[in-house]
This record gives sequence, C-alpha cells and structure tokens, in this order.
Amino acid sequence: MVVVITGASSGVGRACAQAFAARGCALVLGARRADVLQDVAEECRTRHGARTLVVPTDITDTKAADHLAREAVAAFGRIDVWLNAAAVAAFGALEEVPHEVFRQVLDVNVLGCVNGARAALSVMSGQRHGTIVNVSSVVGAAVVPYNTPYVLSKAAVRALGGTLRQELRLAGQDGIHVCTVLPATMDTPFFRDAANYSGRAVTPMGPVYTAQRAAKTVVRLAVKPRREAYVGPAGRALEALSKLTPALVEGVLAYEMDRSHLSRTHTAEPADGNVLQPSARLAAVGGGWHGRRRTAMRRFATAALVVGLGAAGRAHVRRAGTKSGMRRWGRADT
Ligand SMILES: NC(=O)c1ccc[n+]([C@@H]2O[C@H](COP(=O)([O-])OP(=O)(O)OC[C@H]3O[C@@H](n4cnc5c(N)ncnc54)[C@H](OP(=O)(O)O)[C@@H]3O)[C@@H](O)[C@H]2O)c1
Repeated sequence: MVVVITGASSGVGRACAQAFAARGCALVLGARRADVLQDVAEECRTRHGARTLVVPTDITDTKAADHLAREAVAAFGRIDVWLNAAAVAAFGALEEVPHEVFRQVLDVNVLGCVNGARAALSVMSGQRHGTIVNVSSVVGAAVVPYNTPYVLSKAAVRALGGTLRQELRLAGQDGIHVCTVLPATMDTPFFRDAANYSGRAVTPMGPVYTAQRAAKTVVRLAVKPRREAYVGPAGRALEALSKLTPALVEGVLAYEMDRSHLSRTHTAEPADGNVLQPSARLAAVGGGWHGRRRTAMRRFATAALVVGLGAAGRAHVRRAGTKSGMRRWGRADT
C-alpha cells in the first residue's frame, strides 16, 4: 500500500506514519519541516524497513500539494491512501485572534484538506481506486468557544467528506472512498504549538487519548473504509449527548473550556505558535498529556446521568398524567 501523509512531522500524522510503516506500507511524508520529516522517515526505515519519500510541503500551496502527489507516483507508481492530517489552531476569543492568523487556520485546515483531496483525486480517478482520510475532530460535531477558526475548520472538513462521497458516487467512482476521522482529545504537541491570544495557558480537555490510538483507527479505515470514525469513546458519547440535549452540551463545553481547557492559574503571552511558521520546538508524537486529564469526562458522565434521570422522570410524569387523565375521561364517559 502506498500512503501519502500530510502533517507527518508530528502527533497523529507521525504516529500514522509509524503504524503504516509497521504494516509494510510505502510512505510519502509531507509537512513544512524537512529535517523533522527526515527523522520520521529514518524511524520508519530503521524500525520497520519501510520505503519512504520525504516531500517538504506547505499544504496551503496548491502547487505544492500537486507536487506531493506527483512525487508519490514517480517514486511508487500509485497512491492507495491519502491522509490529510495537517492542521493548526488559534486559541482566544473571536475578536482577540488576529485576522491573518484566523485566515491561516482556515487555509491550512480547510483549504489544505481541499488541496490534498484534489491532488489525491487527480491520481486516484485514473487508478479508479484509493482512500482519502480527512482528520476532522469531535469539535466538528460539538462546538467549543475560544477556538473558533479551528472549530469552523473541523466542521468544514466533516462536510467536505460528505460532499466528496456524493460527488464520487455520482461520478461512478465506487472504488474511491472518503473517510472522516473525528478524534476526541489526543496527546500530541498540538496544544503546546497552537497560537494563543487568550492570555491563559492551554491544557487539553480530558480524557486524553494517545496518538497511536488515532493511528489504529486510520489504518483500520485504510483497510476497511467507513464514512466516519470517532477516536475515543468520549467523542462518540459527546456527539450522542449533543443530539439528545444540545443546549446542555453547549453549556457544559463552554464551562469546561473556561474552567479547565484554558488555565485559570497559568497565564500565557500572546503567540502565533506554529500557525504562520513551523514550531522550533522538539517534534514528537506525544505531548506528555496522556492519562493526566480526566475531569471533563467525569462532568459529562454526571451530566449524562442528570439528563437520563430527567428524561426518565419526565416520561414517568407523562405516563402517570396520561393514566390519570384516562381515568378522569373514563369517569366522565360513564
Ligand atoms: N491533538 C488533538 O487533541 C486533536 C483532536 C482532534 C483532532 N485533531 C486533529 O488531528 C490532526 C493532527 O493533529 P495533531 O494533534 O497531531 O497536531 P500536531 O502534532 O500539531 O501536528 C500538526 C501537523 O500539521 C503540520 N502542518 C501545520 N501547518 C502546515 C502546513 N501549512 N502545511 C503542511 N503541514 C502543516 C505540522 O507540521 P509542520 O509544522 O512541520 O508543517 C504537523 O505535522 C489535525 O487534523 C488535528 O486537527 C487533533
């Protein structure tokens, strides 16, 4: 299997490179940092004997995305899987995030996926097979505040999956699949490297899952494509809850963001993080958060219990009301 990965230098993309390498796939690694990509390629070669190609790529550049696809075909003859994992984020209230940073988050996260998908399709359409995997997020399904450009972008990525599947079906391209991954919080350098104008340090909202867990899901989708897949039960539970009781989930997520996702005790200087240029800090798969953040899930479990009990109580009152009403009607009838 020939796999192209954008965002392969860090976090989920890097974990996916390792997971695909372990399955004997040939890898084409894209991101901005050439030196870090060389390290990832070296890891995949020495640990797993994988064939690798490094193509430094700024995914906001359409020509660079097309070049990535062309290089993959030149090296390995085809593209079986294209993973769009590259993304950036900017924390802060809507009016706090500078316009150019806001725009760049949308450019990387939305147009980056579009550029990747177009480049992939230019090859896959001729092959009449292939799988595009776009990484969205659970916040594409249940929104949080103080991260608006990212949240908008992830909802757009989820929508892109739907429109692409529809267009492929109408074009009779039933050998090409488009899958959307919706991870809950992942332990990666993402939070450290994000832009932040909130004045408060960013700490991930728990529970925090490993990037390797996301990689397992992505590999599974590459082998057996599905429309959408959550990573981590918290994400699935959140979406189910937000369908059941949207106002409550909106409220709890706002509270959670204000209480714990943005620190109440640690401040942070305004920073554009890795949005406008790559991070100069150590690149890695993990961010050191795994297992440290569980509070949000406990609060959600409590909220779910309250909602469940409330719904059961209301149903009971309705049933009792209907019975006594029927008795009254029955008496009136006689
Ligand atoms: N971490 C989470 O909690 C979480 C939760 C849900 C969804 N996700 C999603 O999972 C995916 C991976 O995120 P992550 O947590 O692994 O983040 P990460 O560790 O910060 O990795 C982001 C990757 O995007 C690349 N990138 C950024 N700007 C780019 C550009 N202009 N062109 C090409 N590559 C660019 C970065 O590489 P360079 O800097 O070298 O370019 C890096 O490889 C993203 O789509 C993210 O939205 C993450």
